[in-house]
Amino acid sequence: MKTAKMTLDRDYAIATIDKRIYGSFIEHLGRAVYGGIYEPGHPTADGNGFRRDVAELVRKLGVPVIRYPGGNFVSGFNWEDSVGPRDQRPRRLDLAWFTTETNEIGLHEFADWIAQVDSEMMYAVNLGTRGPDAARNLVEYTNHPSGSYWSDLRIRNGAKDPFGIKLWCLGNEMDGPWQIGQKTATEYGRVANEAAKLMKWVDPSIELVACGSSSRDMKTYGAWEYQMLSECFDEIDYVSLHRYYGNQAGDTPAFLARSVELDFFVREVSAICDAVGAQRHSRKKINLSCDEWNVWYHSNQQDKEVLKRDKWGRALPLLEDVYNFEDALLVGSILITFLRNADRVKIACMAQLVNVIAPIMTRTGGGVWAQTIFWPLMQASRYGRGTALRPLVESPVYDCKDFDAVPLLDTTATLGDDGSVTIFAVNRDMREDIELSVDLRAFGSLRVAEHSVLHHDDVKAVNTEAAPDTVKPAAGEPGVMDGGRYTVRMPSLSWNVVRLMKV
Ligand code: AHR
Repeated sequence: MKTAKMTLDRDYAIATIDKRIYGSFIEHLGRAVYGGIYEPGHPTADGNGFRRDVAELVRKLGVPVIRYPGGNFVSGFNWEDSVGPRDQRPRRLDLAWFTTETNEIGLHEFADWIAQVDSEMMYAVNLGTRGPDAARNLVEYTNHPSGSYWSDLRIRNGAKDPFGIKLWCLGNEMDGPWQIGQKTATEYGRVANEAAKLMKWVDPSIELVACGSSSRDMKTYGAWEYQMLSECFDEIDYVSLHRYYGNQAGDTPAFLARSVELDFFVREVSAICDAVGAQRHSRKKINLSCDEWNVWYHSNQQDKEVLKRDKWGRALPLLEDVYNFEDALLVGSILITFLRNADRVKIACMAQLVNVIAPIMTRTGGGVWAQTIFWPLMQASRYGRGTALRPLVESPVYDCKDFDAVPLLDTTATLGDDGSVTIFAVNRDMREDIELSVDLRAFGSLRVAEHSVLHHDDVKAVNTEAAPDTVKPAAGEPGVMDGGRYTVRMPSLSWNVVRLMKV
């Protein structure tokens, strides 16, 4: 068995963890809304047509913020279509996904649902086909108490109190040629600056996320961030990062090392934010919003066939990745990466939440179940609160296609407000267990409350409606606590959560 060491100290802290790093995303796309969270006529549907069984699983997952309504969808969306009498709302062609949007679910209905699942809305405005005027009207509609055209319209539409949306995205992936209304960095930076100014004049308490690159692979990456920020640095609060991974090559060790690339991505964008700040002699710190991240590749071929068959259809089964066990391991390492960068990453949204590249799947007219990737997000959101610690880790390493010296044990730890310590770890070793020794002497007496392990012998194992518990956390060996030194065995290929409580 291999061994690894970790030293923790309460004084070695990275930052307070912003709970919004456990966020998610719902786009008007595929069966996310229609046939996902909303299915009137389903046996579990409530009076508004929302599925109670889905809402329950969303609450169990624990996502403190949900980005909405897109995604690529938002760049052709008129928010006014989504309010007012439902039978009068227009049906529109959605040029992002080549489907039809009926607007049956809109702002008010989604706000009701989000309250039901104990979350908050992060709303993206359209800076593709629209601009500052529509954006400032929307903030007036959602956040201004009353006495103006748009706020009074909201009241007439049934919401006496403002929705009070605090967090806003200034468009979506505006660097991408696939985007409706793609822009150059300078064009986008100017529009974002003006939209931001107007939106904050309506409600100075809001926070704004500007679009960074839609991927680290974009040719414009880096230059995009620098030029865009040079236009809107003073008005915005966060820069977005989007990142999706796939294991098309069937190379599991290389796939599990992709979080190393995410770490580079985060540090590079942070450095660019600081460079633009330095050039302006500004002390403002721009933080990061990783507001789209996940594994996404399983469904690519199927999507082409669905669209060939049903172009302009409604609620099509698009982006329905079925996640396997190795996907859950990478998701675990991505969450560890966010914790390690908690001083910079303040928001992160797993893309997406239901049916569309999602931890939660439904069958129309049928059941709901948790995919493999549900579990690491749920456990990190539940137990990874408080302070992100800066651990000293010594782990054996391996080389793979993209990186050398990748730690076989990817691990970090958090300190809860109640004095508890939680260790998160992914054992990337394909064959061997790793014994981890942790020096916890700085924390006083701790006892092992739980060692939870997610493991399956087959990296391609999946959860289905018929077999929803195929990949699911189980109790691991508790390990041994001996005078502030804790030793525990982490099985080969596993996601581990160890909870140590104050005695
Ligand atoms: O999450 C799916 C899509 O991925 C989003 O609509 C877009 O922003 C990204 O390209």
